[in-house]
Amino acid sequence: MKPYVIINAAMTVDGKIDTVERKGAGISSAEDRRRVLELRASVDAVLVGGHTLNSENPKLTVKDPLLAAQRLAAGLPENPAKVGIVTRAELDPDGDFIKAGPARRLIFTTPQTSAEQLAMLTAAGVEVLVHDGKRVDLGLALETLETLGIKRLMLEGGGTLIAEFIRLGFGNELQLYVAPKLFGGANAPTLVAGDGWSESEAKTLALVEVRVLDSAGGLLLCYLLQK
Ligand SMILES: NC(=O)c1ccc[n+]([C@@H]2O[C@H](COP(=O)([O-])OP(=O)(O)OC[C@H]3O[C@@H](n4cnc5c(N)ncnc54)[C@H](OP(=O)(O)O)[C@@H]3O)[C@@H](O)[C@H]2O)c1
Repeated sequence: MKPYVIINAAMTVDGKIDTVERKGAGISSAEDRRRVLELRASVDAVLVGGHTLNSENPKLTVKDPLLAAQRLAAGLPENPAKVGIVTRAELDPDGDFIKAGPARRLIFTTPQTSAEQLAMLTAAGVEVLVHDGKRVDLGLALETLETLGIKRLMLEGGGTLIAEFIRLGFGNELQLYVAPKLFGGANAPTLVAGDGWSESEAKTLALVEVRVLDSAGGLLLCYLLQK
């Protein structure tokens, strides 16, 4: 069994999820940031890929005290679990992924992560699961999360991990904020990275919602991923 996976991302009209500078550019509007917090508050875990984790060290908490209180009143932890999938973890022990909470924190990694980093993560209370092989086994990671009670999971990028989830058929839903902006740049990260697919292998999506989310013209597009 695997969790129900909602892929969430913010993208420019030209399909970029960051600029060529790769510094984690702001793309969401205030309305979209609110939607993201509400979506986070509705899931058991939030998951990010290693490049996003190592370079941006995201908080991944629900932030709003009201949303946190509603979770507590429903018998849930204040924040969803925070999960990182990273070939070689290089996390700052004082960074937000580790410190922002309270939240259960899990890192799936490989033997490429140093013994010092593994010791630091464990000492900080992070649950570390090391998979043999060059990369984390995503199917196994999802099955492990399901056995830990994670039934509904939000994948918050980046493009490499999103591509793998789609390739393997592990994504159920895509919620996409499209900002009225252009970043350009052939090397700027796009929504779905990886090696790509041929025309005959292209993935098809079923549109379930289109909404104008803000006065600036940002759109919310929701799709079901077809297996
Ligand atoms: N706008 C948005 O909504 C949004 C959200 C999040 C991130 N971003 C942007 O996305 C960019 C980062 O994306 P990214 O594509 O470079 O990386 P990413 O998806 O954040 O990270 C992929 C990581 O997962 C690791 N990994 C381990 N096992 C894997 C497996 N089985 N399959 C796939 N990956 C596996 C990869 O390791 P190796 O490749 O080293 O093996 C790599 O470290 C940043 O610029 C960030 O700002 C945008």
